[in-house]
Amino acid sequence: MYPTIQSDAIDRAVDTLNEGGLVAIPTETVYGLAADADNEEAVLKIFAVKGRPTNHPLIVHVADIEAIDAWAKDVPETAYRLARAFWPGPLTLVLPRAERCGTFVTGGQDSVAIRCPSHPWIRELLTRFAGTTHRGVTAPSANTFGQISPTCARHVADDLGDKVDFILDGGACDVGVESTIVNLSGEHPEILRHGAVTRAMLEAVLQMPVPDAGSNAPRASGRLKSHYAPNTKLELVSQERLTARCQELADSRLAVMGSHGILPDLGVNVVFRTPSPETPEAYARVLYARLHELDDIQADRILIELPPETPEWAAVNDRLGRAAADKA
Ligand code: TXA
Ligand code: MG
Repeated sequence: MYPTIQSDAIDRAVDTLNEGGLVAIPTETVYGLAADADNEEAVLKIFAVKGRPTNHPLIVHVADIEAIDAWAKDVPETAYRLARAFWPGPLTLVLPRAERCGTFVTGGQDSVAIRCPSHPWIRELLTRFAGTTHRGVTAPSANTFGQISPTCARHVADDLGDKVDFILDGGACDVGVESTIVNLSGEHPEILRHGAVTRAMLEAVLQMPVPDAGSNAPRASGRLKSHYAPNTKLELVSQERLTARCQELADSRLAVMGSHGILPDLGVNVVFRTPSPETPEAYARVLYARLHELDDIQADRILIELPPETPEWAAVNDRLGRAAADKA
């Protein structure tokens, strides 16, 4: 699991945030690029470092459920129910924004995304940082806009390096894909982004349907078609087609992730092969690290065997689909 918390490292992270600096933080989903959510100048640095448009809203990470009322207003009962069931954990709630929350955090929108992460290092950091006023940190994934999200400190260092004031190394992320986002600022709850908290889990707590958001949903950069993308062209292939597709591409150097049983028989043009994890949790945990590895081979093309299309695989299939989409 996670390494033992290093108290002096947490101190340094808190000091850096207090000074208006940027800290890469470990969470159970992916590493985030954090700034004091009350400090406009610090938050604006996040957009500059990521190369992310400033109208893309950020998530406010908080220490506990009590912080909801500091950052949001007109909070529906459903929010507390979901927070009690899944916090700390990989669930983000979109709620009407309280005065406290600057529009520099929300991309100018009147709603704010709030999440209470469970990774022990970030929990310790947030508890020390929160004070009596429920201070929080805004943190998008700690990667350049449109690139693969980081799930270990080295990914952050490779991508952002000295643009970050401090990287808090809390080991590899356990969940591996970004939090589930539920919009509670409209009439009915709806899913803005799939993650480890599945639709079935949300519906079991709320006892009502929680559909995907329609096309008029609030802006969410994770909803852009091409996102989380490697630089090498990536193609998704069904299990039945994988062997034949590798043969069709005989003139190309391929990096392949697929079923354990198929890999050994693929041709010599397959220069790198790695087995697909067999459960959605295991797959999500390593997905971004594998995409980084497959990309680093600098093959002509990456082929990934499509996982099953059942509901438990929604988050994994969503990220794979975006990683394979043509860059606009
Ligand atoms: O697991 C996670 O959520 C990670 C870790 C670091 O906590 N964070 C993350 O942040 O994925 P980011 O910025 O890469 O994605 C946040 C998503 C974006 O798609 C953003 O548009 C959406 O949350 N979002 C933030 N505020 C919103 C709002 N007010 N309404 C709708 N979507 C919002
Ligand atoms: Mg991101």
